[in-house]
Amino acid sequence: MTRTERPSETRRTFFAWMIGLAASVVGLGLAIPLAGYVIGPALKRRDTSWAAVGPTGSLRTGEPEELEYASTVKDGWRTVTAKKGIWAIKQPAGEVVVLSPICPHLGCGFRWAAGDHTFKCPCHGSVFDVTGKVLAGPAPRSLDVLPSKVEQGNLLVLYKEFKSGLDHPVEL
Ligand code: FES
Repeated sequence: MTRTERPSETRRTFFAWMIGLAASVVGLGLAIPLAGYVIGPALKRRDTSWAAVGPTGSLRTGEPEELEYASTVKDGWRTVTAKKGIWAIKQPAGEVVVLSPICPHLGCGFRWAAGDHTFKCPCHGSVFDVTGKVLAGPAPRSLDVLPSKVEQGNLLVLYKEFKSGLDHPVEL
């Protein structure tokens, strides 16, 4: 036995479909931006800002100095303030070159050996000159230079970290 739909039932079915479709469109319209808002920050690269390290007046030309400062990094949902170290080298013309304190071989900290005017990494024996160029050891690239500027006598740094073990710097 077949049942033929009456016109009012056909209309009711049509409107039910239309309401379902409209609800889906509205739901998607809300879900997509909401998902972007929730997931977006977690996918974003770490966001650092210029940090004041301190006055440059006490730096001696050509003599690297290890300096510490507080760096604020926005990483996904978290904003983290941590102590960071850098190597600052005042140049003859007055500008300051800033080196990352992390050895590009496998990430150890290195020291300035004033006696032979080189940076030395204790982990696997890499040696770098005052500009960061590799002189010896397994380090695959020069020490990483960090963006820096001097404003009204104060050194500002944009802290970055790079992948270890590569022959060119790749930012983390
Ligand atoms: S981590 Fe510096 S030489 Fe290996």
